[in-house]
Amino acid sequence: MNTLELLNFGSYKLRLKGVLSHQLDSEIILSKVLKKSREKIITDLNRKITSREIIKFHKFIERRLKKEPIAYLFGEKEFWSKNFVVNKDTLIPRPETELMIDKIIKIYQKKSINILDIGTGSGCIIISLLSELENSSGIGIDISNKAILIAKKNKKKNNIGNRLKFLKKSFKNFYNCKFDLIVSNPPYVDKRLLNKLEDDVRKYEPIIALDGGKDGLDVIQKVIYKAKDLLKINGRLALEIGNKQFRQVSRILKRNNFKIENSIKDFEENIRCIISNLKG
Ligand SMILES: C[S@@+](CC[C@H](N)C(=O)[O-])C[C@H]1O[C@@H](n2cnc3c(N)ncnc32)[C@H](O)[C@@H]1O
Repeated sequence: MNTLELLNFGSYKLRLKGVLSHQLDSEIILSKVLKKSREKIITDLNRKITSREIIKFHKFIERRLKKEPIAYLFGEKEFWSKNFVVNKDTLIPRPETELMIDKIIKIYQKKSINILDIGTGSGCIIISLLSELENSSGIGIDISNKAILIAKKNKKKNNIGNRLKFLKKSFKNFYNCKFDLIVSNPPYVDKRLLNKLEDDVRKYEPIIALDGGKDGLDVIQKVIYKAKDLLKINGRLALEIGNKQFRQVSRILKRNNFKIENSIKDFEENIRCIISNLKG
């Protein structure tokens, strides 16, 4: 069997199961099995594949057919041009979160600030920020011990050093001196909609990273209350929110003495991130 035949076979099986990214997924899986870049593989379609490689490929395709996300198949996800370790205990970093990072870096370039990341998961947000803001430091907290272990691995991999600490802690009982910036991508899915999520998410990603309680706003609201206590005057809160939550979240922010500075839209023109300022 050659590369083209195997790619087509994988893509066909995935398409039958309704995987929209069937072609791409088949290519990624083969590239991981052969330990070669996707580009290299699709420019050498006549390459013969060994039976060991075919067996390995089939095993990954079988897992993908059950909708296991590609990131969990290989235990990694690219985010902010870095490779992050992920597993079933951490949310898979999403591209829309990079939009928030981009904006924050523009605001704080060359400054020296102290950042708190609430619900750090794999640590992707705070690690990406500190890799760019080289004079800054931070703390990432998460209620999940297993997520914190992964975040620590990612810190080591990205050589952030002692500017960053990860703690297993709920934000509800976290006390510290005050921060210049709090970032959070909290769980924000409406509890009633959890069982309507795509299989890839619903069956594999940690429920504690998704369940935002009533209307998906429970945790967001609590993060905002807590941020009031943990921020310096004029400190900023950068929040990722769910689709269609902007109106309600901005109301909560205003009620809690925050002034909205920026709202950032995702690739489908929905506001997905709010940066606000704690008024004096
Ligand atoms: C949507 S995930 C975000 C993960 C990561 N920051 C990212 O953007 O990929 C939300 C995270 O919040 C954590 N979490 C949920 N409740 C929490 C709490 N009370 N205190 C701290 N972290 C919490 C979850 O364990 C999960 O890792």
